[in-house]
Amino acid sequence: MSFDLVVIGTGPGGYVCAIRAAQLGMKVAVVEKNPTFGGTCLNIGCIPSKALLHASERFEEAAHMLPKMGVGVGAPKLDMAALMKFKDDGVDGNVKGVGFLFKKNKIETFTGTGRIAAPGKVEVKGADGKTQVLETKNIVIATGSDVAKLKGVEIDEKRIVSSTGALKLEKVPEKMLVIGAGVIGLELGSVWRRLGAKVTVVEFLDRIIPGMDGEIAKSFQRILEKQGFEFKLGSKVTGVDSSGKTLKVNIEPAAGGKSETLEADVVLVAIGRVPYTDGLGLKEAGVELDQRGRIKTDAHLATNVKGIYAIGDCIAGPMLAHKAEDEGVAVAEILAGQAGHTNYDVIPSVIYTSPEVASVGKTEEDLKQAGVAYNVGKFPFTANGRTKVNQTTDGFVKILADAKTDRVLGAHIIGAEAGEMIHECAVLMEFGGAAEDLARTCHAHPTRSEAVKEAAMAVAKRAIHM
Ligand code: FAD
Ligand code: NAI
Repeated sequence: MSFDLVVIGTGPGGYVCAIRAAQLGMKVAVVEKNPTFGGTCLNIGCIPSKALLHASERFEEAAHMLPKMGVGVGAPKLDMAALMKFKDDGVDGNVKGVGFLFKKNKIETFTGTGRIAAPGKVEVKGADGKTQVLETKNIVIATGSDVAKLKGVEIDEKRIVSSTGALKLEKVPEKMLVIGAGVIGLELGSVWRRLGAKVTVVEFLDRIIPGMDGEIAKSFQRILEKQGFEFKLGSKVTGVDSSGKTLKVNIEPAAGGKSETLEADVVLVAIGRVPYTDGLGLKEAGVELDQRGRIKTDAHLATNVKGIYAIGDCIAGPMLAHKAEDEGVAVAEILAGQAGHTNYDVIPSVIYTSPEVASVGKTEEDLKQAGVAYNVGKFPFTANGRTKVNQTTDGFVKILADAKTDRVLGAHIIGAEAGEMIHECAVLMEFGGAAEDLARTCHAHPTRSEAVKEAAMAVAKRAIHM
């Protein structure tokens, strides 16, 4: 069997790459070791977590917000089986959608573990142990990432869980302890807090969400605390004793000092993810990794071995589905002789909590460190007509623009539906636009997005409603 391209892994990087390559006329095969397509994102990541976030947000709204609006539905009752079915149906629909797209684009699919036997040869080993070899002009590795483990904390996916176990708990824990105040910890912590758990987050650093604009992170932490989250910052978990009915979690100050023990029914380990390249035969094929185990690629996503490329979570850069997808398109276009490209300066990121937090481009800390002179425009949602009337006024918009050229270098939004609002800033930045361009663009009234326009106006100190 001979192909123009074999893609190993069908997550957002792999499946999008395969489809784009097929659109460009290549004969394409994909190899996937899981029984379903879609990778981490569709099966155990973005999609199921958003289903639970959506449902749990409605649960909390029914309890606290609907009565305020005069909509009496009584105290909401949780049907765990129905909640899990809602999530699983959503996953199933998305996963099947990828299978449909493979068929539509005449992409051949192979179920089994892929290994690079040599450049131009991918061996596929099925669950029955049988192997077959695919000959190919090019290989794209899109094998994604796996949960980072913590020494002394053994994940059993029942009581001590990674994100995978936290997506399918059998009942709402009374007390949940989350290790890591990153994206997973705060999203999945929000799900279980809304459904009734008391959530404590232990974070090694002295702040939440490292890398996020500091001012936004502080505001985010305050809002989460108001919702009932407890944070233990500058702390580390040194072990979990799971011998009794309740888990006993040993915590120490990060800098060392007196330890304490906290009790929990469930511990969620969410301290990051690591690139997944097990069993791929990279060493034998001579493919170089960096110090963090990521596959080294050049600006064209090529590894050091001719004909082998890599994309997504298994290479450097943010571990985000849309980053993997953009790289998938870029590498397919490069292989077709086109100028495929990913703009790493304009990759939005969204935390799907309530309120949402969305950002694109540089933070204030980035600009200070790089010595770039900038102006800041901010606008609070308390001054926006739509959020005021909906009583969802938590948060603000912040636009960072170059002091000399007014070009927008970063945009940060904390507020309801921030994840939908960030994209006008991303488009503006992709076109090299200025804060003035955003400020002069007519925005519909009454929308939350008017706060983005007003923040852009605030860069030149001329916001109207503030
Ligand atoms: P993956 O999606 O990990 O796919 C890799 C695939 O390769 C897998 O299917 C795997 O089985 C397969 N594979 C591995 N090795 C082999 C082999 N040797 N042979 C055959 N197949 C192999 N990102 C966002 O942008 N937004 C979100 O809201 C979001 N939420 C998330 C929530 C959670 C709980 C988690 C864990 C992650 C979330 N992410 C989110 C991150 C996102 O899931 C990843 O960035 C994305 O899936 C990376 O895509 P990928 O194609 O590189 O790899
Ligand atoms: P993360 O990198 O976002 O956060 C991990 C946190 O754990 C950091 O704050 C870190 O300082 C802390 N930490 C590390 N070691 C620790 C220790 N020993 N004790 C206490 N704290 C410790 O990683 P997370 O949340 O696991 O997510 C993994 C990846 O998945 C992220 O990189 C993210 O890009 C992606 N993701 C994206 C989502 C989105 O886009 N909405 C949602 C969920 C995941």
